[in-house]
Amino acid sequence: MSTYQTIHHDVLVIGSGGAGLRAAIEASAKGVSVGMVCRSLLGKAHTVMAEGGVAAALANVDDRDNWRVHFADTMRGGQYLNNWRMVELFTKEAPDRVKELEAWGAVFDRTPDGQILQRNFGGHKYPRLAHVGDRTGLEMIRTLQDHGIHQGIEIYQEHTIVSLLKDGGRIAGAFGYDRASGSFKVFKAKAVVITTGGMGRIFKISSNSWDCTGGGIAIAYDAGAELIDMEFVQFHPTGMVWPPSVRGLLITEGVRGEGGVLRNSAGKRFMFDDIPENYKSQTSTDEEEGWRYIQGDKNAKRPPELLTRDHVARCIMREIKAGRGSPHGGVFLDIAWIKEKISNAPEHIKKKLPSMYHQFKELAGVDITKEPMEVGPTTHYMMGGIKVDADSQMTTVPGLFAAGECAAGLHGANRLGGNSLSDLLVFGRRAGEFAAAYSKENPETTIHPDQVSELMKWALAPFERHPKNGNAFQLQSQLQEFMQSLVGITRSEGELTEAIDKIEKMKLLIKDVACDGNRNYNPGWHTALELNHMITVAEGIARAARERKESRGGHFREDFPEKSEEWGNMNICVKKSGADGMEIKPKTKLGMRPDLEQVIEEMK
Ligand code: FUM
Repeated sequence: MSTYQTIHHDVLVIGSGGAGLRAAIEASAKGVSVGMVCRSLLGKAHTVMAEGGVAAALANVDDRDNWRVHFADTMRGGQYLNNWRMVELFTKEAPDRVKELEAWGAVFDRTPDGQILQRNFGGHKYPRLAHVGDRTGLEMIRTLQDHGIHQGIEIYQEHTIVSLLKDGGRIAGAFGYDRASGSFKVFKAKAVVITTGGMGRIFKISSNSWDCTGGGIAIAYDAGAELIDMEFVQFHPTGMVWPPSVRGLLITEGVRGEGGVLRNSAGKRFMFDDIPENYKSQTSTDEEEGWRYIQGDKNAKRPPELLTRDHVARCIMREIKAGRGSPHGGVFLDIAWIKEKISNAPEHIKKKLPSMYHQFKELAGVDITKEPMEVGPTTHYMMGGIKVDADSQMTTVPGLFAAGECAAGLHGANRLGGNSLSDLLVFGRRAGEFAAAYSKENPETTIHPDQVSELMKWALAPFERHPKNGNAFQLQSQLQEFMQSLVGITRSEGELTEAIDKIEKMKLLIKDVACDGNRNYNPGWHTALELNHMITVAEGIARAARERKESRGGHFREDFPEKSEEWGNMNICVKKSGADGMEIKPKTKLGMRPDLEQVIEEMK
């Protein structure tokens, strides 16, 4: 029998991206002992890939902005399925969280009078994204990390958590292993905060890094936590399509925020062809006016390239499917055209979008100051995930908290760009605060050794199986392949049923998956264990998507292309039922507080 080491903390944070760091900083500041588990090395968080900016109504560039406009924009972007209380807290607190980050040393681009500069992004009425070039996520992680390492947080790098541990109904800690040695660890804690980010790697084409496999969502589900809005996956309109080795890599919406336009193979700006009814009053069909908006003319309306991501991604797919795409299966995104408008265009582009310039020059041999980019949709973000209480971020399991992308509610059916970075700050802080309070108010838990023995046996089982039986990498790529083709940007009853059948077969196949070698840095073993989590999350997405018989935000059904009033009133909840069953239940959404209804009305 294998052995394990037990580590004690009051609060355990699983995940070390923006939400994890912010939660750990806050919990530690409340005087409790905090452990933070990173799957990779500290600083190598997927948050660094959020490029264009952090959304907060600072009103530095347009003084008409305030939390009420941000509230209405976020609710409209989420097609009113958002948890309105989360949106209220988020839009009210985001400016303070950004200023706090600045006080901790974060560098931002500046307005001529020295304030934090803000740029335009899709669905935001006013320039709202505080940024530093196109490296905002990187700067956020750098700042949080620099601040966090002085807070007495114990950090466990290159560790993977495979299961949560419970004491009766309450959370008691987590079980995992050190990736380097393969040795098992039990983290005993009175409160656990999950901040593991998204699940983009369940799909074949994704902007997400290797570790975004939905693990946190799956372990919360296995521990009995409710999930919500799982059908809502965001496909960012602009990922790289060429060369194949970097397919899916993010091209920031900041390119469009700085004036980039989308064109098809005939050179036509196809976004003018389809402007949704609820955005018509805000959107211009005049090229000149769109450019004036980019230049900061407060009386001009936005260009259609800055419509919400769900819509832009579908318009791009329409062009590609109609045979009007670019040579490698995308469309063209052109920022070089602004040389017709400003004299120093190449320098301006390099200053505003330094990463994009280098990314294309080095990876694709394209000079974006001279030529258009080829772009296509890429799986980018999970709106759904673990259901949380708006104020405390506690899940439906006592003592278990979640924040950031793995938690759901804030973004509804579709997230506005830049809202994820402020989400991490606002709700990471709240989760840390409430987890610390919970750990102070509640007694120690007990972890039963039998529970740990069972988990060790389960985790080591792939080594006992015959290597010819099942290959984890093969199954993983099959899963990614069919999730992309059957549960992607457009879906139908038949495709979703086919995906669910395939998932059911995979659940059987995975019981035979084998690995060889030893436990030190063994990717075959890691993948064999991780596949269980990927399959759980894939099933949640596919089943919820089949249940929602309408199209809304990130969920588009070819067989139900319209929005339905009935479904507009429902969130779909997903819960574990029995050993292997998944319960899918539509629940009527919470009615909005009248004063917030009033805000929405005013903003119309
Ligand atoms: O396009 C981007 O820079 C991505 C930002 C986001 O997803 O918030």
